[in-house]
Amino acid sequence: MLLIKFGGSVISDKTTYKGFREDVVRRIAKVLPKKDLILVHGAGSFGHILAEQYRITGGFEEWKRIGFAKIERDMLELNTTLVNILVEEEIPVVSVPPHAFMIMGEKQDLEVFDYLINYGFVPMSYGDAVFDKNKGINIYSGDLLMLELAKRYRPEKTIFLTDVDGIYNKPPGEKGARVIKKFSRNRNARTEISVTDVTGGMDLKIDVMKKIAEYSKVFVVNGFYPERIVDVINDRDFIGTVVE
Ligand SMILES: Nc1ncnc2c1ncn2[C@@H]1O[C@H](COP(=O)(O)OP(=O)(O)OP(=O)(O)O)[C@@H](O)[C@H]1O
Ligand SMILES: [Mg+2]
Repeated sequence: MLLIKFGGSVISDKTTYKGFREDVVRRIAKVLPKKDLILVHGAGSFGHILAEQYRITGGFEEWKRIGFAKIERDMLELNTTLVNILVEEEIPVVSVPPHAFMIMGEKQDLEVFDYLINYGFVPMSYGDAVFDKNKGINIYSGDLLMLELAKRYRPEKTIFLTDVDGIYNKPPGEKGARVIKKFSRNRNARTEISVTDVTGGMDLKIDVMKKIAEYSKVFVVNGFYPERIVDVINDRDFIGTVVE
């Protein structure tokens, strides 16, 4: 079993509302296996922009209702666009929208994934705006969903596709930034990586990857170079980070 996350940074241009990177997704779709695969995708500019504007993580308020509805619509649109491309490549993808199967802080019924996997389908879920037992509404991160799926299905390999070459020792682009080839899960990211991401996004991501590494071999590779996915699948030398 292989678990792959299409980072929102790969499939969308995060600076342009609903900027979809069709060519990139088509190239990735061509190298994916057609079975024993679970897919998750991020939101990128189909989710983050409105989620911030409507302060979804702050919980329900009347004025946010239309924002929540628009995010659900945009995420379904992104999901359907991805499913279309993957099905064209004969990958039997079936989408599983989180807002319909889970309530944060209460239940998370992953049983439908069992059926999809048992019948040879490729489940495709995503980071989404969802209901929350305490706050009413919230954002469920695709990275956390990756952890739940890794715990349940113990994939041999878990791959995070991003728009950079792996996990860096400091924010990529900064002077002296380089890719960490092997990231030990005993390593303390907070002291060894200077994280300036305002949302603390990279912190959470690395925490999640370290937890997944208890169940699976975790790889971070640049989704703009699908041949690197092929290298990981075939146990070849690859450009990127392994978390183990
Ligand atoms: N130390 C670091 N190593 C690697 N990337 C880093 C680091 N610090 C910051 N980043 C940034 O993190 C970004 C990837 O995380 P981000 O949450 O933006 O993408 P994503 O997970 O693909 O998107 P989404 O959350 O929509 O799925 C990269 O674009 C990179 O610039
Ligand atoms: Mg993210």
